[in-house]
Amino acid sequence: MGQQAKMIVDKDFVVGKVDERIYGSFIEHLGRAVYGGIYEKEHPEADEQGFRSDVLELVRGLQVPIVRYPGGNFVSGYNWEDGVGPLSERPKRLELAWRTIEPNWFGFNEFMDWCGKAGTEAMMAVNLGTRGIDDARNLIEYSNHPSGTYWSDLRRSHGYNDPHRVKTWCLGNEMDGPWQIGSKTAVEYGRLANEAGKTMRLVDPSIELVACGSSSRSMATFPEWEATVLDLTYDTVDYISIHQYYGNPKSDTPNFLAQSVGMDAFIHTVISTADYVQAKKRSKKKINLSFDEWNVWFHSHDHDSKLEPWSIAPPQLEDVYTHEDALVVGCMLISLLKRADRVKMACMAQLVNVIAPIMTRNGGGAWKQTIYYPYMHASLFGRGQALVPLLQSPKYDSSEYTDVPYVESVAVHNVEIGEVTVFAVNRSLDEAISFEIDLRSFGPVTILEHIVLEHDDLKARNTEWQPDNVKPHASGRSAMTGSGSIEAVLSKASWNVIRVKLQP
Ligand code: AHR
Repeated sequence: MGQQAKMIVDKDFVVGKVDERIYGSFIEHLGRAVYGGIYEKEHPEADEQGFRSDVLELVRGLQVPIVRYPGGNFVSGYNWEDGVGPLSERPKRLELAWRTIEPNWFGFNEFMDWCGKAGTEAMMAVNLGTRGIDDARNLIEYSNHPSGTYWSDLRRSHGYNDPHRVKTWCLGNEMDGPWQIGSKTAVEYGRLANEAGKTMRLVDPSIELVACGSSSRSMATFPEWEATVLDLTYDTVDYISIHQYYGNPKSDTPNFLAQSVGMDAFIHTVISTADYVQAKKRSKKKINLSFDEWNVWFHSHDHDSKLEPWSIAPPQLEDVYTHEDALVVGCMLISLLKRADRVKMACMAQLVNVIAPIMTRNGGGAWKQTIYYPYMHASLFGRGQALVPLLQSPKYDSSEYTDVPYVESVAVHNVEIGEVTVFAVNRSLDEAISFEIDLRSFGPVTILEHIVLEHDDLKARNTEWQPDNVKPHASGRSAMTGSGSIEAVLSKASWNVIRVKLQP
């Protein structure tokens, strides 16, 4: 084996505690995410509320701690009142963000019930596109106030005696995007977000608020948008959002696999901008990041551009993911962990059918896409303290990036259960790399397992009929080479999870 890489991790060199909410996800009223995804009344696996139990099982397998809802672009034209109360009285509306018909068979209360069954909590977004302060305060009163007022008693009359106590609220969605209904300049948005957030806090002071950052790093207004918005909202909000999708439309895989280098830079710039505003304000408060939309998204662009408008739950954004997409998702998860000190929430966008780890067929099965696996591994094994990755790796240049390390890696130390997990991607398409992991500060360790996601065909996918075409195995080659040192073989184009037990 020619190439070699090495990582030193030390238990005292801690990046930060991993906030489990970085393994969050997202359900938008878009395509078949809700209708045909998490909810399908006529499906043989539907429970008494119409929730697909086969989907719930796959969601539980990911241990998703938080799910953003109801959008996305959808929220900027949504009247939340349409989705509560008796079904027979709920209106059908033209849904302008995705040009469909929204039947409102599923709304806020159903979502809260679904969250309970999925073992997750809600991250709610309010509409700051067509609406504003008034509707945001009404929604939070409906959701979080115990009783004795118009909106809280309305909730009780809908069968929900106890308040939902939603803690996390997004102040709009991608308000810098010209595609957004009611998009705004940074000053217009910053003022509105501040006043809406302030008012929501008057209803419930315990909430946490997320201000909209730029829709992506390539927006012309980035990062001036962040500086202005935070200048206007600093004392009110707790997080600034960050969104990024990657694609490989030209099949330039070395460059596609390098995209997380851009994600690292994006995170770094948003942190720096937030800290610049902190310095300007002489504030003690730090603003953290909510990376509440991230994923690979490009496979479905052509298909979606040809869809006829105005149907209920058409198949939109149904990317069928490949093995190489799973590697990019693995790299993106590593990027989140490398900044666990400041990225405190993140949502893979999205959860079911719409650019999602879980796919379904209406009336049919539910299965795991390739990207399900790195997401699941990180969520299951990436809890604890992220450690500084002192990494030496051979490098390459791609069409956009220079000095891209072939090996991308980070380790997480779970002190409570005495385990360290190393996540590693080998970006090389040609050869395996020998990876030395120096864990000397941990004393004697034993290898629990080395999980690998690999495939000869970078474009391999899973389908309903071949659900296990791409799936991990636990026969990775890792061996101790002395006390506290591991030699792992990272197969070409692979995602690796090396789990290590510490001695008490
Ligand atoms: O996740 C799909 C869409 O991507 C969301 O609705 C929007 O916020 C983003 O542009």
